Amino acid sequence: MDSFLIQGGTPLRGEVTISGSKNAALPLMAAALLTADTCTLRRVPDLSDTRFMLRILESLGAETRFDQGTVTIRAASIRGFGDYELIRKMRGSICILGPMLTRLKEASVSLPGGCVIGTRPIDLHLKGLAALGARIEIDGGYVKTSARKLVGTNIFLGGRAGPTVLGTVNILMAACLAEGVTVIESAACEPEVVDVARFLVSMGAKIHGIGSPTLTVTGVSEMHGADHEVIPDRIEACTFLCAAAATKGEVVVHGSRPDHFAAVIDKLQEAGVRMKQKSGTLLVSRPGRLRATDLTTLPYAGFPTDVQAQFIALMCLAQGTSVITERIFESRFMHVAELMRMGADIAIEGPSAIVKGGRRLSGAPVMASDLRASAALVIAGLAAEGETMVNRIYHLDRGYERMEAKLQALGARIQRVEGE
Ligand code: EPZ
Repeated sequence: MDSFLIQGGTPLRGEVTISGSKNAALPLMAAALLTADTCTLRRVPDLSDTRFMLRILESLGAETRFDQGTVTIRAASIRGFGDYELIRKMRGSICILGPMLTRLKEASVSLPGGCVIGTRPIDLHLKGLAALGARIEIDGGYVKTSARKLVGTNIFLGGRAGPTVLGTVNILMAACLAEGVTVIESAACEPEVVDVARFLVSMGAKIHGIGSPTLTVTGVSEMHGADHEVIPDRIEACTFLCAAAATKGEVVVHGSRPDHFAAVIDKLQEAGVRMKQKSGTLLVSRPGRLRATDLTTLPYAGFPTDVQAQFIALMCLAQGTSVITERIFESRFMHVAELMRMGADIAIEGPSAIVKGGRRLSGAPVMASDLRASAALVIAGLAAEGETMVNRIYHLDRGYERMEAKLQALGARIQRVEGE
């Protein structure tokens, strides 16, 4: 297992270009199952998760190619039964269920496991598919679904933590080929959901209300191939903003969509980070001291849960006490214990982390536990005094394309240490 060896204390300076969004690319690939035609996706990030999704699609019988960021998928003849081991390993694969069911009228996938950030239930996905007329059976670790036909209806998809991103995408895709009109209430409005909806429309789907909490889908008899560029990864962009601020650097971020992360820009400005937008680029710097800042993670357009860990790492360096409350997932503070090994002073009180900032962090060997926690540990290592070894960096490789290369280009002293 590889690790990152980081010598902290160097301000990040220079330019970075943001890759395509992992959380858009995964459902976009699943959407290609809705047609026998070839679909082309551009600006797909080369990650272990995107490569994994392609393997899953191939296990269903699709032909795929991935070359220089462009993915082509031809799901001419597919079966409704995916490789248990493959699907079990990546939660994002649950979004193949809707397209498979609506195209083949039967689909089975392994129940996606939970992960360190929460139990990750799929009750809302199944509620939506059942509402469209699917018969659902949980058997032997599989979700088995079948339907003589899917018929449009009104579905409320809100859960205990608000909308569901992949649940919205799953039901949206199933509704595209269902008979009649489906109205999805409390739909997720994340930019990734908007990107998938736009791709579906380019494939011939009829969808109204894109970007709003109410999506109206009029089923069509078939869909065709399309060519689509994936939106930039807003979480990667925010990760680099936090890294630049943590190291008192000055970074030009190319290729992002600042309108996709206004809540993060707002909170970073409140914390004393300076950002300037100039024709598609975002200049970030932190001339003075960081100020303690409270935040609560919320569904879009609120502060995204996927930037919570990175922001906590930053608040460890701020003057004062910050209260960071996680409202989306039930246990997304795995990074806190590791940050405390670097000298951070953080207490967990229910859904909140109380961060007493202002102390210098000192480098230490730390363990990555999940994708965004790994990013938080890298940020802390870049800002800390001395050497940090972030172990199990495979978590980070799931969602960040060539992170060490991008950081090295910004002057960071970071290198990958090959593990056994
Ligand atoms: C997507 O996960 C993202 N993953 C996550 O990013 C992101 O954190 C999450 O949305 C929230 O924005 C991908 O897009 C691949 P949810 P998803 O369904 O769709 C509860 C990352 O770091 N819920 O929106 O699986 C759930 O437990 C990853 O890139 C139900 O109760 O998340 C959670 O509390 C991590 N029942 C809340 O809803 C359901 O059927 C939001 O989950 C589904 C979800």
